[in-house]
Amino acid sequence: MNTVLAATDLQSFSLAMIVGNILDPLTPGVIRRISGNILNQVCQPIIITDQKGKIALINSAFAKMTRLSVSDDAYDQFGFNELNFMDPNINKILDFGISVTDLRDSIFIKGDMKKIPAKISIFPVFGNNQLRLGSVCTVIDITSDVNYHALLQKSETILNAINIGVITLDQDLTITLINKNAEYSFNVGKKPFLGRPFRCLAEHLAGDWSYIVRSLEGNIEIKDYELVVGAKENQYYIINTHLLRNDLNEAYGTIVVFKNITHIKQIEMQLIRSEKLKVIGELAAGTAHEMRNPLTTVRGFVQIIKDKIMKMGINEFDSQMQMILSEIDRVNKIISDFLNLSKPHNRKRESLRLNDILNNVMFLLENEALRRRINIRKILDETIPPVNGDNDELEQVFLNIVNNAFQAMSVHGDFTIKTYMSTDRSNVIIDFIDTGDGIPEELLPKIFDPFFSTKNEGIGLGLAISNRIINDHCGELKVASKKGGGTTITILLPCGKN
Ligand SMILES: Nc1ncnc2c1ncn2[C@@H]1O[C@H](COP(=O)(O)OP(=O)(O)OP(=O)(O)O)[C@@H](O)[C@H]1O
Ligand SMILES: [Mg+2]
Repeated sequence: MNTVLAATDLQSFSLAMIVGNILDPLTPGVIRRISGNILNQVCQPIIITDQKGKIALINSAFAKMTRLSVSDDAYDQFGFNELNFMDPNINKILDFGISVTDLRDSIFIKGDMKKIPAKISIFPVFGNNQLRLGSVCTVIDITSDVNYHALLQKSETILNAINIGVITLDQDLTITLINKNAEYSFNVGKKPFLGRPFRCLAEHLAGDWSYIVRSLEGNIEIKDYELVVGAKENQYYIINTHLLRNDLNEAYGTIVVFKNITHIKQIEMQLIRSEKLKVIGELAAGTAHEMRNPLTTVRGFVQIIKDKIMKMGINEFDSQMQMILSEIDRVNKIISDFLNLSKPHNRKRESLRLNDILNNVMFLLENEALRRRINIRKILDETIPPVNGDNDELEQVFLNIVNNAFQAMSVHGDFTIKTYMSTDRSNVIIDFIDTGDGIPEELLPKIFDPFFSTKNEGIGLGLAISNRIINDHCGELKVASKKGGGTTITILLPCGKN
């Protein structure tokens, strides 16, 4: 018999013969049975339908895949009632004998109520006189493929949803995955770095990655390594790496995990700072009074001596006397600042107009500004609501900040004070903007520390006290500065209730 199988990948003539033998009604029963047996030896699942679209045979591989138990002679009782393609068009294709290749669908088995994802190809089979005898349908079970992809998708979704950065590397330290958090944290796109050595990414990022790169190269795992990455200013990260191992315990890659701990670091620094303030406060409270009394006496006597020798017409020690007095005044100021830090907060709260306090402070410093040739610009929003607070304390804060700004603009400069409402209208904001020397990035975390000063004459308590006062007012004091680029101090204070 001359049978043609209109298929491309089932070109094997013998298979075409076998299928033709099964479908051709003229083939003797014994040959048909032998052909059926041969098809059962083929390991690919196969369904054969006759020209009416009725199932003529399913082979053992198909029965095994679908767990259908079909006896050799029961094909004619077996139909699409038991077995259904999810896409109803496939049944039609089988009916009409159209050829399709690698169609993705699922086979639904009614008895088991289960779906098997599959890749399906259908080829019509023709007899001698170009008469279609039926079709042959080959099936590839792609369950594991589909499961693998689903798993991959699930893990990718999870990886992108967590707020932990993850980068995976293969054995050669080539980047195979960068999750969304990593992209965002380091402000890098995924594309330029996927498939490239980790070293390239490390070189692109600010911060000292050398220890991490060395450990990765030596297949050494890192535990809780702290790193400051400068892609965004002063961001602290904690980094861990884990070697990925196969069943034979061989390392085939590394996973680098990192978490941004900047917020925790800031709280930690604040705690240390307030702890320091507390100790200083206790110390000050205990000793300041005792120091002040003898100082007042000394100052009094110096003043008397100064007056007396002046009256006697001796001017020789004038400058020294003046120096003694101003030094005593300086020590007194330190003691006052000490006491201020330890002062129990008496929570004096009254409704205050910030613009008035600022105008007052600027009036006090007018001469100083003239002397230093500083242009002053005030942009005060007259519509801002009052705040609740202590007038003297806030005046002290503003004095400290303006003094710092003036000292930073030693020769001349521009100084701007701006008041306005926050966009959510819950805070009043004051910006103090100077064009002074600015603060180097590495010193920024220290400027609120008590006794941190870069000035010869500085005590280093101005900002520590100011910060304490603003915190007591439930406000916030922020600094933005760059070496050589001027400084902006921003104070947020909650609007008072009218
Ligand atoms: N506007 C500014 N421009 C540049 N540096 C500043 C500015 N404000 C503060 N600083 C830096 O912060 C440090 C701490 O300021 P802080 O006011 O606490 O102390 P100080 O001014 O040095 O001394 P004092 O206790 O007399 O105020 C300063 O020494 C200076 O280095
Ligand atoms: Mg100061």
